[in-house]
Amino acid sequence: MLKFDFNTYNNKYVTQDKLETYKEKNEEIKNLFFTDELSHWTRIDTYVSDEELLNIKKVSDKIKKLCDVFIVIGIGGSYMGAKAVIDALTPVYSKKKPEIIFLGKNINPNEYNELLEYIKDKEVAVNVISKSGTTLEPSIAFDLILNEMKNKYNQIELKERVIITTDEKTGTLRELVNQEGYQSFVVPTIVGGRYSVFTPVGLLPIAVAGIDIIKLLLGVKNAMTEQLDNAINYATIRDIMYNNDKFIESYTIYDEKLNYLAEWLKQLYAESHGKEQKGILPIANVNTRDLHSMGQYLQEGKDIIFETVIGIKNNTSLYIDKYNCDLNELNNMALEKVCEAHNNGYTPSSIIWLEKLDEENLGELMQFFMFTAIVGGKQLGINPFDQPGVQEYKRLINEGLNEKFTN
Ligand code: PA5
Repeated sequence: MLKFDFNTYNNKYVTQDKLETYKEKNEEIKNLFFTDELSHWTRIDTYVSDEELLNIKKVSDKIKKLCDVFIVIGIGGSYMGAKAVIDALTPVYSKKKPEIIFLGKNINPNEYNELLEYIKDKEVAVNVISKSGTTLEPSIAFDLILNEMKNKYNQIELKERVIITTDEKTGTLRELVNQEGYQSFVVPTIVGGRYSVFTPVGLLPIAVAGIDIIKLLLGVKNAMTEQLDNAINYATIRDIMYNNDKFIESYTIYDEKLNYLAEWLKQLYAESHGKEQKGILPIANVNTRDLHSMGQYLQEGKDIIFETVIGIKNNTSLYIDKYNCDLNELNNMALEKVCEAHNNGYTPSSIIWLEKLDEENLGELMQFFMFTAIVGGKQLGINPFDQPGVQEYKRLINEGLNEKFTN
């Protein structure tokens, strides 16, 4: 269950009168979720079918037995959601197999050299994820890993260890599936990269990590039936902030296990809204660590920031004798006091509380944020599903490749 505190620490900006001015427009936007334009976002089968779910379960069970290291190759929306869920819901210190390594999000040689050395004597399986199949970073990573695997495994073994997640019909990766008979999953055409965590893109790596994807999807379904109004409210608060020249939003967390959730949020909002000279710049703060660095700016720096704070109500308990209290309660006390301090300064805060950190709550939270990205895009008057700026850098890199390296 999610709980929202949209009033206590941002009431200087968010008033009932202001909210009233959005009523008509928001009603129009809400209606889109009941028409052809957006209604698919309220249905789980947009992301994954029952048949695919069974297949994900089957393949993930096999992979878990088969390898020491599961390499997930992808960039942007093709990996961030899965990493956010896995980091949040699996132990930090664990020797559990398979180890999951995310690759293909950079092209620096150090990382690859070290990894190739690391996996030399290990059993490996790979899942390359790319909707287009042409993105440079994952394509380089996949080439390197596949070559390494070809030295180690025969054709039959490769078919068990290579899984390709890509467009249903087009692209070089789909061609490879057709040629080599590798296992494959589909990135639904209608779901853009950063909205794809609950498709096979995210679900396969999440299942291999031992996380219950049925419970995760239960949370997604909860959001689909329960959270649309809250998402519209939250999008409205963001828009009010934006119209008050608050151009930076900090996603502030109080548990480092949510670090990649904040990264995923940065991607979701930057790519969905940062276009046509519009949009809020998302940043992240991991507290209480960043109170000793970024916190100073949020308290007394330029008046351009607001905060969305994610707290966990009931977390693992740990008693602290010195203060005669539970550490989670202390952490949450700090969260509220920092919101108070920031609101006394220049940074208002909205708080989103997770009842606890588990599959259901995380699924609900992430779907809530995806609804908000869509609603916010409509409020801004931009298309929240495209990323023309990203396409442009990809185009120029390809131009550079053709000019410099290919004959
Ligand atoms: O959200 C998006 O659409 C992007 O971040 C893409 O996921 C990213 O650019 C990777 O693209 P692809 O899956 O085609 O390799």
